[in-house]
Amino acid sequence: MHTSARHPDSYGVPQAGALLARLGLGEFVPGRIRALPGRNASWSGPTLSGRHVFVKQLQGPAEDSLQRFRRALAFEETAVRAVQPRLCSPPLLGHCESERLLVHACLDARSGADLLADRAWDASLSQALGRTVAAVHMLPLQPDTAGDAAPPLLPPLHLLDALPEQGYLMASQAELELWGLLQRDTELVESLRRLRESERRAPRRPSHCDLRLDQVLVHEGKPILVDWEEFRCADPARDIGSVVGELLWTAVTRIPAARDDTAAASEIVSGPVSAHDIAAAGAREWQRLRPLATAFWHGYRHTDESRRPEPDEPRKPDEPDPHLAERACGFAGWHLLDRVLAHAGEQARLPATGRAAVGIGRRILTAPHDTIAVLGLTEAS
Ligand SMILES: Nc1ncnc2c1ncn2[C@@H]1O[C@H](COP(=O)(O)OP(=O)(O)O)[C@@H](O)[C@H]1O
Ligand SMILES: [Mg+2]
Repeated sequence: MHTSARHPDSYGVPQAGALLARLGLGEFVPGRIRALPGRNASWSGPTLSGRHVFVKQLQGPAEDSLQRFRRALAFEETAVRAVQPRLCSPPLLGHCESERLLVHACLDARSGADLLADRAWDASLSQALGRTVAAVHMLPLQPDTAGDAAPPLLPPLHLLDALPEQGYLMASQAELELWGLLQRDTELVESLRRLRESERRAPRRPSHCDLRLDQVLVHEGKPILVDWEEFRCADPARDIGSVVGELLWTAVTRIPAARDDTAAASEIVSGPVSAHDIAAAGAREWQRLRPLATAFWHGYRHTDESRRPEPDEPRKPDEPDPHLAERACGFAGWHLLDRVLAHAGEQARLPATGRAAVGIGRRILTAPHDTIAVLGLTEAS
């Protein structure tokens, strides 16, 4: 197996410039190029042709980056075949497989994560995001997408039995604490197995599969999605659950008492912060954010229900999936655990925010059906 790593220093801007020239866009205007944060190397800026572009070079072992590159292109090929094309992603201007380069139009936009942090993400944006996500799920199934049956890797059930030696040695203290917590919790492990099993039986649709609010850009008032490297045919409940999970995670991170810095301060003033205090503050935050989850769900449902069969679709689309909301809640619960895991890599101890998120995620995962209304996935009256 060939797994040579692609290092950002040995590849990058020169290759991007050469591709831009081949595409007739001209190289980046010197001094105007901006590197963007993310797991891959990416740059944006104006080109000599005047067109602003966003260029991304996928990083990581060659086989892995090739697979992600092909998934991203499969999305682009699927999107152009939509019967009613809608803008749900920035236009692709060119690509180069050997250099793992993707060139998109650079949009003048803010991310959903930024808007939510500024409390500028409102119910109408949530509802519009629901429509965008439904439009993705309504894309026609292509042989390539449909043929790629590999389910997403997460949640990683095998790691709930034991971490492999390498993973154990590389893990931070907080990650070890968290894995220990999860592995000992047989009820939680069982609920994750049930979620994966129900996903296996679910009708599949073209899905983003790595949806977070930093992958949502709001351009001219419309939410569109970027970063399609996990695109495949999958349980649509994943994308729905990710959005709801993002809102839940935001609620948890807004609990003042659960933030380590303020927790330490309030302990001095009023004694230790109890789990009960944290839960009460979390519930208050969720009261504010829950309408955003409901608006998202209504936007999704309204578009999804208006779905018409594509002309070349072999069968009529399924009746509305009666278990979609329940599975979406399960994935929202998983999303919370995933966020805690993503942050634990950089932490010495699992912070109170993380423990609160695990507790809430656990409650959702162990009884997803009972949380549908609490999470706001109620039908419009
Ligand atoms: N076409 C685009 N126009 C403007 N900004 C973009 C565009 N595509 C992505 N971005 C911004 O760059 C960030 C990184 O892009 P993304 O595709 O998510 O890369 P990564 O794979 O490294 O996460 C995104 O979160 C988004 O804020
Ligand atoms: Mg990204």
